[in-house]
Amino acid sequence: MVKAIRVHELGGPEVLKWEDVEIGEPKEGEVRVKNKAIGVNFIDVYFREGAYPAQLPFTLGMEAAGVVTGVGPGLTGTKIGDVVAYAADSMGSYAEEQILPASVVVPVPPSIDYNTAAAVLSKGMTAHMLVRRCFKVEPGHTVLVHAAAGGVGSLLCQWANALGATVIGTVSSEEKAAHAAEDGCHHVIIYTKEDFVTSVDKITSGKGVNVVYDSVGKDTFQGSLACLASRGYMISFGQSSGSPDPVPLSDLALKSTFLTRPSLMVYNATRDELLAAAREVFSNVASGVLRVRINHTYPLSEAARAHADLEGRKTSGSIVLIPDG
Ligand SMILES: NC(=O)c1ccc[n+]([C@@H]2O[C@H](COP(=O)([O-])OP(=O)(O)OC[C@H]3O[C@@H](n4cnc5c(N)ncnc54)[C@H](OP(=O)(O)O)[C@@H]3O)[C@@H](O)[C@H]2O)c1
Repeated sequence: MVKAIRVHELGGPEVLKWEDVEIGEPKEGEVRVKNKAIGVNFIDVYFREGAYPAQLPFTLGMEAAGVVTGVGPGLTGTKIGDVVAYAADSMGSYAEEQILPASVVVPVPPSIDYNTAAAVLSKGMTAHMLVRRCFKVEPGHTVLVHAAAGGVGSLLCQWANALGATVIGTVSSEEKAAHAAEDGCHHVIIYTKEDFVTSVDKITSGKGVNVVYDSVGKDTFQGSLACLASRGYMISFGQSSGSPDPVPLSDLALKSTFLTRPSLMVYNATRDELLAAAREVFSNVASGVLRVRINHTYPLSEAARAHADLEGRKTSGSIVLIPDG
């Protein structure tokens, strides 16, 4: 038996229950991992609320770092004692220990501690997908990043800056604006106080931006389209404020806009893609290109509090849950 955060009914943070679960032994192709640090991601909120479907009851969570405590029969390549992390659509990381397909775990280099690995793997690979694969950021580009002080946003701004882009970030408060500026935003817009479309127009002297990375969704989507330069890239990769309203395809003709809705799971579809993305993220952390902000840690048993803070826009950077005791 291990302790875990379970969901029996969909709803607010209060549906998260701290319970004993039986996890059993790893079968062929599986590993058992004792989690040392667990990453909280906005996708966990979508599953808890039911915006993304999952069969009830389930253990929440898609990211953690820990130690391998068991391997399935005949497994090679991963052994007991290995330090690993994972960020995949294999649910169940809000637990002291869990069983996973061996194909989703990645080795963690010795220079990266558990908390950092759990704070950066999913969010860093998302940033990697966005700046290196969906739209390749290069010197001379101007990029707009919404929720720039968030978990993904913080890493995305640092990475885009390191690639030579002019980075414009939006945030909801002065405090978050300071974080975004430290994370490489050349211009920060407080979108709860000013109209970000007007501000971007001023900053770019009417030219618009080459790419918008929009994870906020409903509240920003239309404005994001308006901020784009001709032949710009609209990358809608999340919906923290709700799903955006659909746009008629003909609206994209005005500026010949490229529109994509990427998913990390699709970009990391093969083992090689997963390993390459994880390697690039960890090496950027080791070399200092990415500074991982672990601004909030909570005991695993208090995951509900972490969720309330995340949804309440009270957090910045990454949130990590630490197994109790
Ligand atoms: N497509 C993919 O494969 C993929 C992978 C990973 C993450 N994502 C997406 O990336 C986004 C960021 O994830 P994260 O875990 O790093 O979360 P996060 O950005 O740390 O938290 C969400 C942020 O969104 C902003 N926000 C704006 N309106 C909001 C609202 N109505 N309710 C809550 N937040 C609101 C808030 O920043 P301000 O207070 O500054 O507005 C908040 O801090 C999420 O939308 C997630 O789904 C997508």
